[in-house]
Amino acid sequence: MADRRRIVLTASEAVPFSKTGGLADVIGALAKSLDQMGHDVVMIIPDYYVQRQRNRNLPKISDTGLRFSIDMNGRQMPASVNWTTLPGSDVRVFLIRQPEYFDRPQLYQENGHGYVDNCARYCFFSRAVLEVCRQMVLRPDVIHCNDWQTGLIPALLNTQYARVPGFERTSSIMTIHNMAYQGRFWHFDMPLTGMDWRYFNYHHMEAWGDMNLLKTGISFADQVTTVSPTYAKEICTADGGYGLEGVLRHRRDDLIGILNGIDDDVWNPEKDSFLPTCYSLDSIDHGKPQCKAFLQQRMGLPTRSDVPLFGMVSRMTDQKGFDLITEAAERLLSRDLQIAFLGTGDPYYESQITGLAQRFPSKVAVQIGFDESLAHQIEGGSDAFLMPSRFEPCGLNQMYSLRYGTVPVVRNVGGLADSVMDFDLNPHSLNTANGFVFADYNRDALAGTVERALDTFARPQVWKQLVRNGMSRDWSWNRSAEEYVRVYESAIANIDSRDEDGRR
Ligand code: ADP
Ligand code: GLC
Repeated sequence: MADRRRIVLTASEAVPFSKTGGLADVIGALAKSLDQMGHDVVMIIPDYYVQRQRNRNLPKISDTGLRFSIDMNGRQMPASVNWTTLPGSDVRVFLIRQPEYFDRPQLYQENGHGYVDNCARYCFFSRAVLEVCRQMVLRPDVIHCNDWQTGLIPALLNTQYARVPGFERTSSIMTIHNMAYQGRFWHFDMPLTGMDWRYFNYHHMEAWGDMNLLKTGISFADQVTTVSPTYAKEICTADGGYGLEGVLRHRRDDLIGILNGIDDDVWNPEKDSFLPTCYSLDSIDHGKPQCKAFLQQRMGLPTRSDVPLFGMVSRMTDQKGFDLITEAAERLLSRDLQIAFLGTGDPYYESQITGLAQRFPSKVAVQIGFDESLAHQIEGGSDAFLMPSRFEPCGLNQMYSLRYGTVPVVRNVGGLADSVMDFDLNPHSLNTANGFVFADYNRDALAGTVERALDTFARPQVWKQLVRNGMSRDWSWNRSAEEYVRVYESAIANIDSRDEDGRR
């Protein structure tokens, strides 16, 4: 093995402790994979006490006894630090407890509105991460930061902490999971960061007049990654960069796209305890019909084995293509099919999809909310899976679908383009195809592609080949974790190339 590295992995959510989306899955799985490769991995996340109390499957969490406070613009905010071990690994997990900031019903927002003090909450968290590293004498080789909530860390590391014992040779990685969320706040929030005002400029922390925490991370980190090769290209364009395309082009040589993997312990139809029957490629003909009937009953849809059942599990946001689905609904629902939705988010999309279920009760069923068991049952019980995203940095559900023999219907963007190969009805494409892909973001393109899927579903031998192609590929984290290690090594090797302001 290459050198054993001390890696601190930090993010605002991680499975099994807290989750709103794919970020949490990625952090939990990547930590385990790096640990299996023999690295010394520490995870640092906020302690969302309310969520933790609701979750009965967590390991025992203990107090480390460590206490410190962070000066948040003149107000001393105390932190205490709990710890545990990530199940199935030797990864130490530190949970930063600050009741006023983190003991809330949700992680980031309620009723569609972000918490007004999100800037303070995650500046506090980022600063506390470095204090945990210092006071626990972790001496990391790499701090791997994820999304805007941790974007301040590379900046503090390269400035205030640059000469603090224990950080002399610490490099940082910034991984972008979604450009649509940047942590943009007004400049009067600068004092919350602990950074000097002189960094409020275009080269460091400012973008388009705001303080921007994702940009801060991109500017200061030794290496920048995102979660698929195609998204790495998209975010350097005006369409995908959300105003930061120039900053990303500046860092193009240090920007790399690494496709996420899936955690085989959690998303595996051969041992998924949420499924009524587990199955493999060999037993899918027996297992999937049972999972399908179970799902139809759970969702209140007619129990029919012959009708093609589409699933969708998603945050209900502009990103995910719900507007296309509602626009294409009349055309789609004139055909014999069923769709099972699970999601929560924007009240507008929640009511649109609920409205469809009321109008077409024998064809559409929806559950609004977050439900781990139903997410697994939709993957297991559906024949096909819908992901018509406007943009998709990586997307995990299409990979879960492939693993579960559930054929994905996706748009040709980001990680969807990198994982789903279109079956264009040409027999040659059957060697590699594992799903259906469309390009244009409009309802006819979506409807036409769903119709292609329906026509193919009527040809069981061809459909089976698509299922086989999807299920036989290795989607596990091993390959991606190795790519991350290469990025860590290159950051470590190039640590001396920062400028006098700590910027790359
Ligand atoms: P994103 O991170 O943009 O939401 P991903 O496809 O990367 O999209 O990951 C979404 C993750 O969140 C998947 O594990 C999915 O099963 C889960 N998920 C999304 N919405 C729900 C929900 N309402 N209930 C349960 N799980 C959900
Ligand atoms: C983000 C993206 C999603 C990606 C996930 C994990 O939430 O929207 O596409 O899979 O992060 O990287």
